[in-house]
This record gives sequence, C-alpha cells and structure tokens, in this order.
Amino acid sequence: MATVIDGKAVAADVLATIKAASQRLTAETGVVPGIAVVIVGHDPASQVYVASKGKKAKECGFNSIEHALPSETTEKELVALVEKLNADPAVHGILVQLPLPDHIDSGSIIQTIAPEKDVDGFHFINVGKLGTGELDTAFVPCTPAGSMLLIERALGRDLSGLTAVVVGRSNIVGKPIANLLLNANATVTIAHSRTKDLPALCRSADILVAAVGRPEMIKGDWVKPGATVIDVGINRIAGGDGRARLVGDVAYAEAEARAGAITPVPGGVGPMTIALLMANTLTSARRAAG
Ligand code: GUN
Repeated sequence: MATVIDGKAVAADVLATIKAASQRLTAETGVVPGIAVVIVGHDPASQVYVASKGKKAKECGFNSIEHALPSETTEKELVALVEKLNADPAVHGILVQLPLPDHIDSGSIIQTIAPEKDVDGFHFINVGKLGTGELDTAFVPCTPAGSMLLIERALGRDLSGLTAVVVGRSNIVGKPIANLLLNANATVTIAHSRTKDLPALCRSADILVAAVGRPEMIKGDWVKPGATVIDVGINRIAGGDGRARLVGDVAYAEAEARAGAITPVPGGVGPMTIALLMANTLTSARRAAG
C-alpha cells in the first residue's frame, strides 16, 4: 500500500513557517505583508475560497483586504481598482478570484495586475519567467508550486532520471507543473485528451500528476508500481447515498494499492494552494522591504 501524502499537515507546517517569518519581517522592518483579494459577484464556491484565503492571511499575521464587488461591475471599474491596488504600497499581493462574470475579460484583468504583485503567477511576465527557469524572481502559480513541494517531500531526492507524466494541459495547473518538474530535472511528458494510449503512457511514469478535472478517470492499473501519484482534481459527484462527495481525477482505492505514495482528495493538494499563496505574498513583501 502507498504512503498517503498528508497535504493538510504539510500545509500547516508551511503556514507555521510563514507566520514566524512574517512576524520577523514586521519586527525588523515594520512591513506587514498585505494581500488584496478581489471578488466580483456571488459565486458560492468563490465566496468560500475567498473567505478561507482571508482567514489564513490573518492567521499568518498579514493584512487582508477584501474587495467584494457587485456582479454588474464593469471591466473599466475593475481595471481602475486593480490599478489603485498596484499603486498602494501596503498591498504586496493582488488576487482577483476567478471565474469573473462573462462580461469581463479575465485575460485583460490578469495582465493589468503588476507582475511584482501577481501572487497567482498568472501574468505573462511570471509565466515567461517560469518558462525560462527564472524562479528566483518569478511568482509560480500556487497549486503547481504546492504540488511540487509535496512531490519533493514524498521523494526526498533529486528528480534527475525520473519520468514524469502530467495529465492535463491547463495554463493554471498542467503547463506550470510540467515546467517545474522540468526545472527539477525530471523527464516530462504532458498528456491530454488527444494523447494516444494514455494508460500505457501513465504506466511509464515515476511521477504521475493528474490535473484533468474528470472524476476518477485515472485507473489503478494505469499506475506504475511504486510511483508517486499527485491528484490535483477536486470533483463533486453524487455518492451512493445521494449525497455529494469529493473525488479526485484518480480512482483512489485502486491507485493506492499500486502507488508508492499518493495524495488523497480532499486533504492532499487542496490545502497546499492557500499555503503557497501566503508564501508568495510573504516573498513579495520581503522584496518590497528590500
Ligand atoms: N479560482 C479557482 N482557483 C483560483 C486561483 O488559484 N486563483 C484565482 N485567482 N482564482 C481561482
């Protein structure tokens, strides 16, 4: 049976380190890390995420500034708010919660965020820095960065010589994780819906990352015995009793029987995302403090 990778425990560890470092930064420089979270409209899932980001920020000793705007907010108004936050020295991280209402172009809003405050790592400048391996000054997207930390902790070794397969090619998860694995010297393949013989490709992976958003698509016999399996999927499905339950992109029970290490859903990658958002905000505050 696989070792279960406890993302909740690793995230708590990371957050405790951030809190201590944040207190030190404030004591030494007077700078209090500040994160502005902007939400437009009333998407219930987004409201839950935003509330939890604010709570964790405060626990880390940060200033958390929430801007909740009505659904009718225009793109021009949102751009004006982002520009105001760009210019505010007390704000080190800006996060505009996605998805935005249809009448607002998310792409242009993301590109309006100052790259040095783009703690989501979605701005072209940060995407480019990750692509060229300039990790010292980039902001890396939080879910991929958190997944990578779990991989490094699970393996406890350099990834040189290991084969990684990433299933899913999104800009938010698949592509950045592939870049991080490549930077860490793994040999990386990105698979997607047009990939031929996906089960065989997955079986070649020492590190298998599932980020497709399809409940339990990756079957147990697609997992190479002893592989490290990172399940980024969070899918809500109806359980046997008719109640909703959360499952990942990997058929967990089957995969656990073959993997060397595996992340559960929930409690794997999920908690890491917020922890890495706080890490990025602290990094930004430190850079601003000089
Ligand atoms: N919506 C769901 N996940 C994310 C995320 O990581 N960042 C932002 N800005 N919005 C999201």
